[in-house]
Amino acid sequence: MTSGFFLYASRYAVLGAGFAGISVAWHLLNDSPKDLRLSVDVYDEIGIGGGASGVSGGLLHPYSPKGKLLWHGAECWRECLELLNVAESSSSSSSSYTSATEKGDTNESFGNFMVRRRGILRPATNAKTLDLMSDNARNCLASCVVETIDNDVAQDLVPNLCLPLNRAFYYPGAMNVNPQRYLQSLFLACQNSAKASLGRQNITLVKKSINDVLELEGEYDAVVICLGSKVDFLPGLTGKLPLRTCRGVITHLQLHESASGSYPEGGPSILSDAWLAVQGPRDLHMGSTWEWQSRNYSSDVSAEEASRALAELLPKASAVYPEIEKWELAGARAGLRAMPPVTSHGSLPLLGCVDQLIGGGSCKFWVFGGLGSRGLLYHGWLGKLMAKAVLSCNEELIPSELTSWKRKTILTISSTLKLKQSLRKLRSHLAEDLVVLLVQPGFRDQGSGCCPNQEPLRCGERW
Ligand SMILES: Cc1cc2nc3c(=O)[nH]c(=O)nc-3n(C[C@H](O)[C@H](O)[C@H](O)COP(=O)(O)OP(=O)(O)OC[C@H]3O[C@@H](n4cnc5c(N)ncnc54)[C@H](O)[C@@H]3O)c2cc1C
Ligand SMILES: *[C@@H]1O[C@H](CO)[C@@H](O)[C@H](O)[C@H]1NC(C)=O
Ligand SMILES: *[C@@H]1O[C@H](CO)[C@@H](O)[C@H](O)[C@H]1NC(C)=O
Ligand SMILES: *[C@@H]1O[C@H](CO)[C@@H](O)[C@H](O)[C@H]1NC(C)=O
Repeated sequence: MTSGFFLYASRYAVLGAGFAGISVAWHLLNDSPKDLRLSVDVYDEIGIGGGASGVSGGLLHPYSPKGKLLWHGAECWRECLELLNVAESSSSSSSSYTSATEKGDTNESFGNFMVRRRGILRPATNAKTLDLMSDNARNCLASCVVETIDNDVAQDLVPNLCLPLNRAFYYPGAMNVNPQRYLQSLFLACQNSAKASLGRQNITLVKKSINDVLELEGEYDAVVICLGSKVDFLPGLTGKLPLRTCRGVITHLQLHESASGSYPEGGPSILSDAWLAVQGPRDLHMGSTWEWQSRNYSSDVSAEEASRALAELLPKASAVYPEIEKWELAGARAGLRAMPPVTSHGSLPLLGCVDQLIGGGSCKFWVFGGLGSRGLLYHGWLGKLMAKAVLSCNEELIPSELTSWKRKTILTISSTLKLKQSLRKLRSHLAEDLVVLLVQPGFRDQGSGCCPNQEPLRCGERW
């Protein structure tokens, strides 16, 4: 036997080692035919969790801000829990992790958990949607129940909580994930799976920036592009995916040892106009800002940007948890979301084969992007569907709601003048009836209320 290259019947490249990429890699290895000799190379210019995934808040539940079950929420929830289990078992069985306290819910001191299973609490803050939310709560998933609770019950969970409408929605089965630790462990699980295959499988992490996917064409059976908000840089794909970028800053707050009122050990994380992802009794992450159209990919946050974020988030968090005023800024990180358009099913990721855009062979190039603000929820199930489609060279295994972007015409409108030009263009496309409008910020400020489709204007999905 000479080199690995000739050993493997199928060779796949996965670009990007975030939630999307690592999930696809896991499913390529584990959902392929048992006798197939298969090799997966995962490329990332920074490393595992180098993009938005590594900094994300890690909050996980299957509901919309109004408490409605999201599109295919049951499947997404189930497959995500499955991957969390895979990652937890690989880290607890690994010698590089020392003891059972690492496993997650046994020790929740700062950064010392992979999955914190303490539930999530959403205080009701809008009287108009209260009845709707209560109705939605009654239609929740049995595997992730939503309890409607009043102030007394809420105070037992989080003392000094402030419920403006004396009502909150509690998801006891929801959780928050330490995204870096989770991704590292899931990759470790991929390596273990390859090892256990006794040479049948191989997975390698390649730290390299890919600037043109055609370079990889000859080497691989298929290339799965999971580059998050940077997918737009690839030749052939620039401007072809209906994505808007949105930078988010997350602040890290600590409560000084000498200060009273630490967060209760078993207390849930909180979702409101700002969210609190609890890391421990004196550690939490508070997020997140929404800077639309930012092109700043840096995870570093300057002192100036951090204090702006703090000034924006603190009043929102303090409205439901006034104690937060006592906590101090200990750091901040940022990531760039790749936001897909809002459809009648909500904001859905963009998947599909993109040979026609890139100009390669057939079933060669695939995209898995636009995970928006819910990458964690979506990555498990969609990573599985993606791997199935790639392995069998059949795009139809992907739900059409996720591939429909390929059949749409993208018009970007950034000013009133452009709107007029675009409307003319729009008319010629009406027969296709599928048109996406991307509207740049600032446009609405110009006082034009005549946008034919208000939906994409909505200011993002809120956790
Ligand atoms: C502030 C913030 C908070 C969030 N909170 C939550 C949350 O609580 N829950 C939730 O579910 N989601 C949350 N999200 C959303 C979530 O982070 C994203 O949906 C998800 O991370 C997208 O995953 P991805 O794998 O598509 O992209 P990414 O994680 O961005 O992965 C892309 C990878 O590709 C690599 N890469 C890019 N270009 C190249 C290249 N040319 N060559 C090689 N490698 C390259 C990058 O280094 C990166 O590692 C949050 C996002 C932000 C910004
Ligand atoms: C696994 O793949 C890598 C990269 O493709 C290659 O360098 C290595 O030789 C392979 N390992 C085996 C055991 O084939
Ligand atoms: C949890 O971990 C911290 C830091 O590693 C340690 O100091 C503490 O004793 C641990 N607590 C428990 C209950 O194991
Ligand atoms: C991106 O943000 C960082 C941190 O706030 C800042 O230092 C850097 O200058 C920004 N980069 C660009 C291109 O704006």
